[in-house]
Amino acid sequence: MNDVATRTGPAGAEAPARRPRVLSGIQPTGGIHIGNYLGAIRNWVRQQDQYDNIFCIVDLHAMTVPYDPADLRARNLELASVLLAAGIDPARSILFVQSEVHEHTELAWILGTLATVGELRRMTQFKEKSKGNERVGAGILFYPVLQAADILLYDAAQIPVGEDQKQHIELTRDLAIRFNNTFGETFVVPEPDIKEAGARIMSLQDPTKKMSKSDPDPASRIELRDSPDVIRRKIRRAVTDSGAEVRYDEAEKPAISNLLAIYHLFSDIPIPELERRYAGKGYGEFKRDLAEVIVEHLAPIQQRLDELTAQPADVVRILQEGAARARAIAAAKMERVRDVTGLGLPTL
Ligand code: TYM
Repeated sequence: MNDVATRTGPAGAEAPARRPRVLSGIQPTGGIHIGNYLGAIRNWVRQQDQYDNIFCIVDLHAMTVPYDPADLRARNLELASVLLAAGIDPARSILFVQSEVHEHTELAWILGTLATVGELRRMTQFKEKSKGNERVGAGILFYPVLQAADILLYDAAQIPVGEDQKQHIELTRDLAIRFNNTFGETFVVPEPDIKEAGARIMSLQDPTKKMSKSDPDPASRIELRDSPDVIRRKIRRAVTDSGAEVRYDEAEKPAISNLLAIYHLFSDIPIPELERRYAGKGYGEFKRDLAEVIVEHLAPIQQRLDELTAQPADVVRILQEGAARARAIAAAKMERVRDVTGLGLPTL
């Protein structure tokens, strides 16, 4: 791990030593699915005791695609409820909504003055989202700069994400280094924390594409809110490969390998053991059991989610407290940024 991670950031050198800080973000767009859960959220929950944690619901990022203003707030609340139901504990982690802390947009502008259009255009996400779209919004291009601001404001050392975010974390590192070289040591240079298992859960309908909130086909993903019957139906209909053997082989059997990975992650049963268990049994029995494993794992989360949904004021209060704590950290960092960049008035 980054050596600097074990100290406080450069701007807070006088503060007492603290645990390494972890930060991650998630967009309030569409239903949260088991790819988000296995690739990111579950790792955030599991690591809460080890780190100083900050989790951000990134509503400003969600504005980069067409959306309905009438339900963005509801989606922020729904996502917060999902994260709390999955095990994010406000006593151990700061949970807040990005737009509640104005420093994110302020720092994004400043970092944007250091980023080049060329490097932003090279981002895979930009390339995918702008493909064939002549009127692509500048927000899509600027998206990773705002993400860099999310991270750098808090001196976060480790960024637990799925594989698809790796390039954005690399850009964040480049911008932090560029800023430090230009204006003096200000930001911690973060490291991506991408677990090998679960970092890339694929679509149930096309194992060459990652499972995604924006896939128009809901059968491509299992959402954390899906009922047991919907989960069973989606697994039953999940595409499989030719042959009948339950074997992990990403090249020859990408669909079954994806299902095996999901089974393993939800059950903790090693993949070779699953292969032995289903030898000679065919896909039908394997899929039936897999559906039950997912249903069982999600049941307590769904129950907590129902409880939280019935108490929206509690969730709003947690988000308000989270924003207040985040704001205190972000404001101190921005003071330092304004100082070294020469913004504002001279002190006479
Ligand atoms: P988002 O909202 O698309 O996804 C949230 C997290 O889920 C992971 N993920 C997956 N992991 C495995 N398999 C999949 N199929 C899958 N789909 C999504 C993502 O890698 C991510 O960790 N740009 C970010 C949000 C963001 C952010 C940040 C992240 C904004 N600021 C600062 C980290 C730090 C995004 O769109 O995530």
